[in-house]
Amino acid sequence: MSIAEMTRTHFSAPDGTNQSVIAWVEEIAALTQPDEVVWCNGSPEEADELAELMIEAGTLTRLNDEYRPHSFLARSDPSDVARVESRTFICSVNESDAGPSNNWAAPAEMRTTLDGLFEGAMRGRRLYVVPFSMGPLGSPLAKIGVQVTDSPYVVMSMGIMTRMGTAVLQSIDDSTEWVRAIHSVGAPLAAGDTDVPWPCNQTKYISHFPETREIWSFGSAYGGNAILAKKSFALRIASVIARDEGWLAEHMLLLKLTNPRGRVFHIAAAFPSACGKTNLAMLKPTIPGWKAETIGDDIAWLGKGADGRLRAINPEAGFFGVAPGTGIATNETAMDTIWGNTVFTNVALKDNGDVWWEGMTDEVPEHLIDWQGNDWTPESGTPSSHPNSRFTVAAAQCPTIADEWESPQGVVIDAIIFGGRRATNVPLVVEARDWEHGVYLGATISSERTAAAEGTIGELRRDPFAMMPFCGYNMADHWAHWLSVGQNLRSSGTVPRIFQVNWFRKGADGSFLWPGFGENSRVLEWILERVDGQVAAQESALGLLPREGDLNIDGLDLDENVMEQLFAIDTESWLAEAASTEEFFATFDGRVPAAVTRQLEQLKARLTS
Ligand code: GTP
Ligand code: MN
Ligand code: MN
Repeated sequence: MSIAEMTRTHFSAPDGTNQSVIAWVEEIAALTQPDEVVWCNGSPEEADELAELMIEAGTLTRLNDEYRPHSFLARSDPSDVARVESRTFICSVNESDAGPSNNWAAPAEMRTTLDGLFEGAMRGRRLYVVPFSMGPLGSPLAKIGVQVTDSPYVVMSMGIMTRMGTAVLQSIDDSTEWVRAIHSVGAPLAAGDTDVPWPCNQTKYISHFPETREIWSFGSAYGGNAILAKKSFALRIASVIARDEGWLAEHMLLLKLTNPRGRVFHIAAAFPSACGKTNLAMLKPTIPGWKAETIGDDIAWLGKGADGRLRAINPEAGFFGVAPGTGIATNETAMDTIWGNTVFTNVALKDNGDVWWEGMTDEVPEHLIDWQGNDWTPESGTPSSHPNSRFTVAAAQCPTIADEWESPQGVVIDAIIFGGRRATNVPLVVEARDWEHGVYLGATISSERTAAAEGTIGELRRDPFAMMPFCGYNMADHWAHWLSVGQNLRSSGTVPRIFQVNWFRKGADGSFLWPGFGENSRVLEWILERVDGQVAAQESALGLLPREGDLNIDGLDLDENVMEQLFAIDTESWLAEAASTEEFFATFDGRVPAAVTRQLEQLKARLTS
């Protein structure tokens, strides 16, 4: 069978496909004019056929089965390596609903622009129909979407990151609300044109229509711009659905922890991109008697359960993790997860046909092919892997995945944690006084820029709730929504405690003060002892801090005064930070909830008292 013959059995919609899906696919196909329409069934055979197609096209390189079975390396176009926030739009009917932190365009105008771009955009290519479920199929918390795309790389990624295939399609009936996601790399082929390994377009649009629950993405095949189930649906569109329905869609990891007394806790933690979620989700505790199990590493959907408690699911089925810095010493669990069946994007290729990236091993290979396909040696003076290179792998392959990771009802959340990458000011850990103070801590997260999106690395930027690039509506309304979720929980049950952490504070010499990674279990221990009512705390201007000696640092080799530096509160800098927060709040046109501005006033009062 020739490659062109493959998947030919799927050229028509499977029996039982709802007419609404068929009509929509026909409409998009009429606009984009693909050569063929392929209905994806989600089978392993289909994924293998796609891999063969991509190897032939030069998109994928098969890795050496001996070291990395059934795994592939993709090299993107050098211009298509990260999320493009400047080209990401929230096209709500009212501009004020998008808020000052999102790019906005009027829906009708954007539709005209997109119609022009998508017209004939898939000529010479296949349109793949990818039905997917976010959350276990049939869970009351799950949501359905259908993505059409002309990128086999995106189909393969969606197959790993979501529950994808015919069963999902057949679950759609006339009453199902499903999200429509349209994606094209924006590189049509005329007859006789030869394709490039990573087609894309310099013009990019990642557009969201919150009212009609639609996503249109053009010009990029990079994960965050093109795997539309993830940031576009599970955060931007889902956050709007969640606002309307009274729950939360957040940029959070989910982790199960069991303490030495056998008590089980679940925590949800929001850190900006490339600030340690995947690492914490796969934590190996260094303190005796603690057990950590993974539930999710990037996105959580949270809401009040039938028992009145805050419950959460991981809507995804895979991990799209940052490769550089992932190694046996930092994240052994991730290394064990990606033993095989993994797609790597923009990492380096070793001479033995396996992959490598900065931080994977202490020993640096003498020769590599770098992420752009060039010869590389340690003398090259450039990183061998792109700083935002990624691995894509099924969550089920994670050795520490918790039994309840697919629980349809979700897990009970005992503590919520906010964090960021802050070289100065923010202490290792602070406990919020109450839910309102916790919402203030979330609203005022700022973090140093990383390679996960375009921009100047290291520059401090505001990233409230780690949702700045991902909230599908006005950020200030998001804070109001959090306040109302807290009120709703309080009315009937228990409200989880909220904490702030910072693993990234630096000393005078510029190196990290806190060892981080597995040692972060010590901070989680204090947090959960607080939740369990086992330990007191001391007041500070910023919130509740561990009392001297309560944070377990037994056996840690810390320099003198490190703990003082990790918890130091400099009044001058904090007053400056408060002034900058005031300016930030002023950009929201009076929409910041009074309970949040009140927290700022109280902080200033505490700092000056
Ligand atoms: P996204 O997947 O983009 O949302 O990012 P993420 O939050 O999952 O970040 P990830 O866990 O991949 O970590 C990003 C970088 O931070 C990696 O280079 C890690 O090695 C580094 N990192 C993670 N945890 C720690 C820590 O505790 N201390 C220090 N110093 N670095 C850390
Ligand atoms: Mn993320
Ligand atoms: Mn991650």
